Amino acid sequence: MNDHSSDWWKSCVIYQVYPRSFYDSNGDGIGDLDGITQKLDHLIELGVNTLWVSPFFASPQVDFGYDISDFTSVAPEYGNLDSAKALIDAAHQRGLKVLFDLVLNHTSSQHPWFQDSLTGKSSEHADWYIWADGRGPAGRIPPNNWRSGLEVKSAWHYSKTRKQWYLGTFLPCQPDLNWRNEHVREAMFNAVRFWLDLGVDGFRLDMFGAIMKDPMLRSNPFHPYMEPSELMRLWRRDYTENTDDNFELARDLRSVLMRYEPERVLIGEVFGPPETLKRYVANGAGLHFTFLFGFLAFRFKAKFFSKLIASYEKNFPEPYLPTYVLENHDRARSFSRVGENIFKAKLLALLMLTLRGVPVIYQGQELGMPNTYIPLRKAKDPIAKEYFWWMPEFVSKRLPERINRDEVRTPMQWDSSVNAGFCPPKTTPWLPVNENYLSCNVEVQRSYEYSLFCWYKAVLAQRALRPSLTLGDLVMISGLPEQVIGYARTHGEDSCQVFLNFGDTDSYFDVTAPDKVILSSDPGNLLLDGRLKLAPYGAILLA
Ligand code: GLC
Repeated sequence: MNDHSSDWWKSCVIYQVYPRSFYDSNGDGIGDLDGITQKLDHLIELGVNTLWVSPFFASPQVDFGYDISDFTSVAPEYGNLDSAKALIDAAHQRGLKVLFDLVLNHTSSQHPWFQDSLTGKSSEHADWYIWADGRGPAGRIPPNNWRSGLEVKSAWHYSKTRKQWYLGTFLPCQPDLNWRNEHVREAMFNAVRFWLDLGVDGFRLDMFGAIMKDPMLRSNPFHPYMEPSELMRLWRRDYTENTDDNFELARDLRSVLMRYEPERVLIGEVFGPPETLKRYVANGAGLHFTFLFGFLAFRFKAKFFSKLIASYEKNFPEPYLPTYVLENHDRARSFSRVGENIFKAKLLALLMLTLRGVPVIYQGQELGMPNTYIPLRKAKDPIAKEYFWWMPEFVSKRLPERINRDEVRTPMQWDSSVNAGFCPPKTTPWLPVNENYLSCNVEVQRSYEYSLFCWYKAVLAQRALRPSLTLGDLVMISGLPEQVIGYARTHGEDSCQVFLNFGDTDSYFDVTAPDKVILSSDPGNLLLDGRLKLAPYGAILLA
């Protein structure tokens, strides 16, 4: 059943599961690995072929698993090694590939390595983390200007015991590992081999761009700019991100994977301009692909998407593969971004699933799960607690981005029972279930042919059927009304065309060649004698 070809990853559709919120199999209000195994048929029904599981390793769960205290064991609330193995096997039996989430940049501050490192400069693990003396007479000024992930604070944290500063780029409870230490490399690569030996097909690499820092600890230059995913930056990250050594690390990691058959893959969370991202995948030697986050901060405008698609096509031509992400466990739900309009959501689904490259769907996106408002004072998310506790609620509510990531991590909605079938009715789920679960759940949407879930299924079925949609080239169609995007996908004999009306009025235009409607999001879309009418937000696939 499992695809043994070496380039299986070129036609994958990734489905991201956030284990804590997917399905609770043992009634403690927290999702778990057995829960994912029990729900694998949902992925099959939807029509994806690759599962990415966010971290479930041993962890104090301050950052809900992205703070790991033992890289080769499973946090008890998620199961154990047997449940991890069972998940991999059950997925493989169904022909699904499995990617785990590898956090190489940091550990939890509770990790025994860090606990030892803290005790002093002569400890066994003294040099496993990035320690430096401070500036100023008492050494109480951080060693340089490096900023934390969100730029709000310094990335350095003072330890009274060592009278030194350690680097924690994301949160203070996540000290950065010192990858220049050979023992660290060896220990971490061993952890990678451990999961590969268990049968996993690859990894999503957390914060990968930030691992190798400048050994001379030079300060970053001040230079305000906006990232494509709309995160504001004040300092360039010349000395802390995408350093030359980091590309080398990508190649070293790839060599660890090369010993395994069929091919195991790496997908990196890295930020930077296209030339930088391409360097990670150049010559088939480093990562297989990097996320492209430009869609996350989308504006629902034809121009926004056509510009971005054109730039991805230009910058990532074959053999590069663009990746498309509309939402994830860190960023706002796309259904909320479109004002919970199902036609807009269907249009975005057709777009994402018919572009050239690899789409990444976040659990619940296929149902149109929206953000679930949770006030900052009730936040469990450490980012909200560390950085934004002071923000007045009325300001936070108005931001397009969710700074309390709990709002995008609420339990998956399976059915109409209390707690949406995520956990037993009498159990309190770790985060509240969205109130809309009676209408927005898998069971209800499965039985309603015009639901978003059925639309995702239909589009994914076409993608599986048509080589043009997975392997074909993409050519933008010109001469269309301003509010419409159209493109053709062709692979050998197989070809199809996609038209998307971003406007809130009907659009009329002529089409050439295809004469058959394969999928239409709205009964108001009509094809007659080579002329196409698209209803407001209408989306159509022709062949
Ligand atoms: C990545 C993850 C995020 C996590 C952070 C620290 O950005 O996506 O959820 O909190 O890294 O590991």
